[in-house]
Amino acid sequence: MARTQSFIADDAETSAFAADVVKGLSAQRKRVPPKYFYDAVGSELFERITEQPEYYPTRCEMSILREQGAEIAKLIVPGAALIEFGSGSNKKARILLAAAPALAAYVPVDICGPMLAQEAAELAPDFPSLNVRPVEADFTQPFALPQEAVDAPARVGFFPGSTIGNLEPHEASAFLRNAAKTLGPGARMIIGADLVKDSETLNAAYNDAAGFTEKFNLNLLTRMNRELGGTFDLKTFEHHAFYNRERQRVEMHLASTKRQKVKVAGECFDFRAGETIHTENSYKYTPDSLAALARGVGWEPAGVWTDADCRFSIQAFSLPETAKV
Ligand code: AVJ
Repeated sequence: MARTQSFIADDAETSAFAADVVKGLSAQRKRVPPKYFYDAVGSELFERITEQPEYYPTRCEMSILREQGAEIAKLIVPGAALIEFGSGSNKKARILLAAAPALAAYVPVDICGPMLAQEAAELAPDFPSLNVRPVEADFTQPFALPQEAVDAPARVGFFPGSTIGNLEPHEASAFLRNAAKTLGPGARMIIGADLVKDSETLNAAYNDAAGFTEKFNLNLLTRMNRELGGTFDLKTFEHHAFYNRERQRVEMHLASTKRQKVKVAGECFDFRAGETIHTENSYKYTPDSLAALARGVGWEPAGVWTDADCRFSIQAFSLPETAKV
């Protein structure tokens, strides 16, 4: 009798990955959460994506920060603490920090400890008087701020990169509700959000001609093969990315080109020809749709900045002093 070799994860991170993959691939519509794109190779591929001519979001956001950083930084009162959610690379924060008045602290929050430490160390030479207080935490959950940030006269959140687009709208709303709790009454929030636009521009951005987005998507299969003992044959899966106008999101999928069985994390999964694994949603907003979401959990619109072609936005919100959080 055939027996399935059960998969044994060797650390907590791998077992969480295994559990999410088994749950996602057992669903009616197969899916894997997009956070698993970012292993070392995936993070490097994402950097390459941001350099592709079709992928406008990173360039647009950087240009808004460079050209309008001084205006945006007016939201930061002297002595405030700046809290960056899911900081990753600090290149966007640097522009804001350079334009901001003296801060009580800069608090980058990220789930990846080693990267946090390295990025914090790299800031020191350029901002010698800045008090950098990294916090290793999952920013989608409530977390404790360092004392300097608690004692500061105001707290300002920074959530760049259109990372908010990876959250389902109900998750984005929960994130903003938690952020209100963490930052407290009188807080400000500065969010980078990609804007709703024509399908051609969006489809091109997620199907770059050089193929880096395709590699980025397929790398998830390589990662499952390596870390979860998977048997995915990369030649039998295709990168699909398209704008779903009705839901205002770009969807990425990995489509099986044939009927097949694949083993991963100790379990066997059947694929029909053409069946997909949904790997990412990247929600697009308008100033109104993001404001509606934010207002729903107590944040008031406090400013919108876009690039010249209105492709990307930086949107600010504030929490009234009287807000109950
Ligand atoms: C890092 C989530 C903003 O949604 O555009 C890029 C990730 N996926 N190409 C995005 C991504 C495919 C990116 N975010």
